[in-house]
Formats: sequence, structure tokens, C-alpha cells
Amino acid sequence: MSSLILRGHGSALILDLSGDTPAVVHWGADLGSDAPAIELSTLPIPHSHNDRAQRQELVPQGSSGWRGRPALEGHRAGGVAFSPRLRTSASRAIGHSGAEITLEDAAAGLRLVVELSLTGEGMLRTRSILNNTGSDDYAVDALRSVLPVGTGAAEILDLTGRWCREQHPQRQSVRQGTWLREYRHGRTGHDSSLFTAVGTPGFANRTGKVWATHFGFSGNHETYVEKTAAGPALLGSGELFGPGELVLSAGGSYTTPWTYAAFSSTGLDGITEVFHRWMRGRDGHPTSPRPVVLNTWEAVYFDHRLDQLVELADRAKEIGVERFVLDDGWFMHRRNDLAGLGDWEVDPAVWPDGLAPLIEAVTSRGMQFGLWVEPEMVNEDSDVIRAHPDWISGPGGGVVPEEWRHQQVLDLVNPEARQYVYDRIDALLRDHDISYLKWDQNRDLTEMGHDGAPSTSAQTLAAYRLFDELRRAHPSVEIESCSSGGARVDLGILERTDRVWASDCNDALERQTIQRWTQAILPPELVGTHIGPTTAHTTGRTHALSFRAITAMFGHFGMEWDVRELEGEALDELKQAVGLYKRYRGLIHSGVAVHGDIADPAYVLTGAVAQDAASALFAFVSVATSFDELPGRIALPGLDPAATYRIERIFPTLTDPFNDRGNVEWIDGGITATGVYLAEVGLSMPILNPETGILLSLTCEN
Ligand code: DGJ
Repeated sequence: MSSLILRGHGSALILDLSGDTPAVVHWGADLGSDAPAIELSTLPIPHSHNDRAQRQELVPQGSSGWRGRPALEGHRAGGVAFSPRLRTSASRAIGHSGAEITLEDAAAGLRLVVELSLTGEGMLRTRSILNNTGSDDYAVDALRSVLPVGTGAAEILDLTGRWCREQHPQRQSVRQGTWLREYRHGRTGHDSSLFTAVGTPGFANRTGKVWATHFGFSGNHETYVEKTAAGPALLGSGELFGPGELVLSAGGSYTTPWTYAAFSSTGLDGITEVFHRWMRGRDGHPTSPRPVVLNTWEAVYFDHRLDQLVELADRAKEIGVERFVLDDGWFMHRRNDLAGLGDWEVDPAVWPDGLAPLIEAVTSRGMQFGLWVEPEMVNEDSDVIRAHPDWISGPGGGVVPEEWRHQQVLDLVNPEARQYVYDRIDALLRDHDISYLKWDQNRDLTEMGHDGAPSTSAQTLAAYRLFDELRRAHPSVEIESCSSGGARVDLGILERTDRVWASDCNDALERQTIQRWTQAILPPELVGTHIGPTTAHTTGRTHALSFRAITAMFGHFGMEWDVRELEGEALDELKQAVGLYKRYRGLIHSGVAVHGDIADPAYVLTGAVAQDAASALFAFVSVATSFDELPGRIALPGLDPAATYRIERIFPTLTDPFNDRGNVEWIDGGITATGVYLAEVGLSMPILNPETGILLSLTCEN
């Protein structure tokens, strides 16, 4: 087999298997049924270079002349086998869009299998399996998945952040060198970029060629863009191991996490479409309508009192809430965040009759009951750690890591510790009518160790196992992945959870950015989006309810606020927002996500267009004051150009976020326009006050 083409949903990967190592001829647009001759892509041999023609290696290695980051780094005792000469020994197509390529180095005792598949949704997935075929230990320092991108990629976009400011974009040019992001948090990390994209200059939401990857793992990892003098940029990713962390004994093997990749010739929204479609097609992707949530955290914090929580449940019911989640503070000794983690029993000091009276109050009002847990963590001030101080994970020799939010990591690699926490959570789920767990994880794992050796990778897999076993035992319980907000958002954790908490920041202005970029790869139904208190607890900003509601609408909607304080028009407006979410969630959670390219950074346009383009919902919001006097005409992209749409402003209706003079004629009665007009000319928008927005519903009339 001299070449192999994988294709799906308009993109293709063409592999050259004619040489002694596999190479990528093309990753980008599908070129049709004929593979271009390999010779067309052959490059000359530059001066001061090894004496073979340059190719875009799928498994870059020093032994074939590669001078950048190699795919595999490792060695045997004394540094032996430090430079693998992995050469193709077999390759086979799997189905119509998969491939498995085997490379071997018999002398070094190594076999590497690279798996690739390009799905019908256009998702390219790859991972590698390394086998130690030698007779002694082989220490793996790194095993990376690498994809060379196509011609013209000149700009990098990735995301970064911190607590309460996750997933903010940063851009730069592709230059010679390596743009390396290392995440040593032991969890995915607040600064972890959900994707790394490279694209043609100025690529935007709806324009430009873009190549993007995501690394689906929740432990230490690296992602990078590398450009050497030898050729185009590469996108790479892999786990980050501590010294001696991964040693394969004779016959042992290691499988990397999946790297997910997508190509788009229609800007970032094309990447989003691939990820959303693929994720929606997964087994286990939530299919039931995403219930309206009320979470108690910013409503009552640790102040748990049955009578007040029942009042809250009453109000929740009245508003239309469908899932009531009791957050942190219900278990033994947990009056604040100094104590109790690990003691997973209901505290009779606060709950003399257990959780049953609250659960009964919630479920009898027709709502599901959800509960907060943090199974991977312990407080030193807890009964479990007083009994088992050695269950704290650390560097060994009895050294206890520094506390972080007053807590330590439970060593899940220790089977007894893992069994203990499994039994506790299992018992909770058996003994109570709990439909949902908010599974939190509130510290970086900075010195993870088991028996004196680094164990971050093993801890991550042990945590995955804990999720998997609890899910198997309680298949109807949904789980949210929370990690001090959005510090564990990745496709690894989403294989075993039903949604993520994107951020602890409920400030709608901050959420506009956090949600936009989290949803660049995660469909909105997987992203928790709550209306927070009128004045945001994490920023002190005050926003109109309508702006908070519009922002929360594009996600898995809920509220995290003491809604007992609402009355009159505000209460009506919240009920209206809940009603709108219920009416439009089917569209938001199945539609195509679209993002406007608006030159003025003061405005943001977010939309969900039905797959058949027969209806759409758009939020047009102002996120700042503008240099310009008015927003002008704003293009509504993604519609059927030939269709005629009725456009109506559906929210807010009680209080307008714009003054009379800045209004547009259609704002009350609606207007009709064709898809092509809306895309090319745009819709004249009202002058919005900063940090307000409007919600537009579009329905096809023909
Ligand atoms: C951090 C989470 O992100 C919050 O939503 C809340 O659950 C607290 N932990 C509780 O301790």
C-alpha cells in the first residue's frame, strides 16, 4: 500500500506509505476521489540536511533526520535505545475511513501502532500504542501525536485563563520555534486551551482555513505548534510525565489519550460544527431536554437550613426549575472549606433527619434532586485522614504537599483509598433519591505521588475508573464535571460526565467570552450556564436580569442565586426567561452554532440555526461602549440564503435595554427578510446600552 486516503465531511487526510516511515501528504479539504500522485508532494533536499527528501513525518524521529520535538522519547538503563529507528512494518485500512500503521524497531525492542480515523462528521482522531518488545524496562519520557498542517497556516489561536476567567483567546503569528503550552496542574487546568488552532492569516469566525486539535485528557499534558526551517507547522500533543513515571516492563504497553483534530475552510465555526456534530453522535450524549437547574451555591453557600432550602425549592418550582442541586456544605464537619472533605456522610448537626426531608420537598414538587461531592479530595481535618494519614498523595517519605484551598489529594492509586471513596458515594446514591452529582475537584495536583514515585497519570486514570464504576452502578445518575469552575473541561472527562461547569464566574459579561470559547468545541447542551445574582459575587459588577438571562440561554441553563428575593416584574421576567429557554432549548441544543464576524468589538452575535435552517435564535449583545454611534447593520450568518424569515425580538419585553431614540422600527412588530439579505446586507440593530442584549427569533416563512 503506497498511499491511503481518509475522508469525511469535506476534509481528507492523505498518507504516503511508500517510504520506510509514514508521512502526511495532505490534511485539509477533500480533493475528490483521486489521490494526487505522491511525487507531486516530493520536496527537494536542502543544503545542510540529511540526504533524503524531506517529508511531513507522521512519527517524527531523529533517526529520519527530524530535528524538532520527536514523537517518542525514552530509553533503557544507561540511556540505551535513546534514538528509536521506528520503520513501517505494516499498515492497513480500517473501514472506509480508518487506518492503523505499525512501526517497529526490533533492535530497540519497540513497536508503535498509530491509529487514525476520520469520521463522517469530519473529526480526525488519532492515538498511539507503544509496546515494549524488548526484554528489560523501557522508560517513556514522551509519546506525542503529531499532525502537520496545510499550506498557508500562518496564525495561531489558542485559549488561556485563570480561575473565573477561563478560555480567553490569544493570537500570534506562526514563527520558527515552538509555541509550547505545558499544563502541570494534575487536572486539565484553568489555563488549559480547549483547542489549538492554526490558520490562514486573519482567519475568523466564518472565514479562513483553520486546522485545530484538542487533547482529550484531564492530567498533565502539553500541546504545541512547532515550525522548523524544514517545513510547515506541526500540531502536537501528549501527556507530560514526571521522572520515571512511565516505565514499561518487558511486554508492557502504553496507549496515549486521543488527539481530536478538525479542518475547516469556513473559519472557526467550521471547526465548531465538526466537534459539535461528532460529540452529539457519541453514545451516551445526553438526549433528554436539559433541565432548568437551580444550584444553591451562590444562594446560601455553607448556610444549610432545611426551612430556607424548602422555601428556595418552593420558589424554584414556581419559576419553572426542573433540577434542584444542593451544593457544598451538607456532609460531616463541613461548615466552611476548612474541614470535612472525605467524610461523605450527612452531618446530623445540620441535617438531624438526614437529607430525606429536603429531597422529599424537592421531588414532591416535581423536580430532580442533585448533590455536590468532591470524591478525589480530602481535608487534613477529616475523620478519614485522621484514620488514614497515608492516604494523602504526595512525593513520598511522609512529606505532605502544601494545602490548596485547605485540602489534599486522596491517593486513588491506593486501592483501599479508592474503594473507600467508591463505597461512600455508592452508598449515598443507593440511600437517596439522587438524580445528579455535581462532581467537583478543587485543587491542582502539584506533587502527585504514590509509593514515592510520580503518579499524576495513574491518578487521572484512577479517577476516570471511579467515575466509570459509579456510572455503571448508577446509570441513571447524571454527572457534572466541575473543577473550581472550568479547570477540568476536556473530552476525556466528558466521556464519563454529562456536562461541565465552565467557570465559577457568573458575571454575564465575563461569561460571554468564557462560553463562546468553551463552546467553540463543546455543544451548548454540555456547558452549564447559570443566571447569577444581580451583582456578581466574583466581580462586583451589576447587570440587568435580561442580559444575564440572554447570556445563560445559550447553554445548559439554570440559576445560582437566592431567587426568593425576587418579586413583581423581576420575578415575571425570570419566569419569562425560563419559559423561553424551555421553548428554544431543543433548537439551541441541536442547531448549528454560529458566531458573527463583527468588526466593532463592542458587539457580539451568537446564534443557533436549526439543522434544516427553518428557524434560528440569535443573541445580539453589547459588551462595551463603542467608538461608533450605532451598531449599524449586523449580518446574521448561517441561514438559508433562499429562504424568507420572519424576525422577531422576543426578549427582553419588560424593560428595554435601549432608549427610544436608538430604536429600530422592526423592534416591536418584527420584520421579514431573506437569508441572503440578512447575510449580505444585515439587519439594522438598535443602539444598545453597554452590557445589555436582545434575543431574536427567526422563522422561515416559505
Ligand atoms: C467550586 C465550584 O466551582 C463552585 O461552584 C462550588 O461548588 C464550590 N466549589 C463549592 O465548594
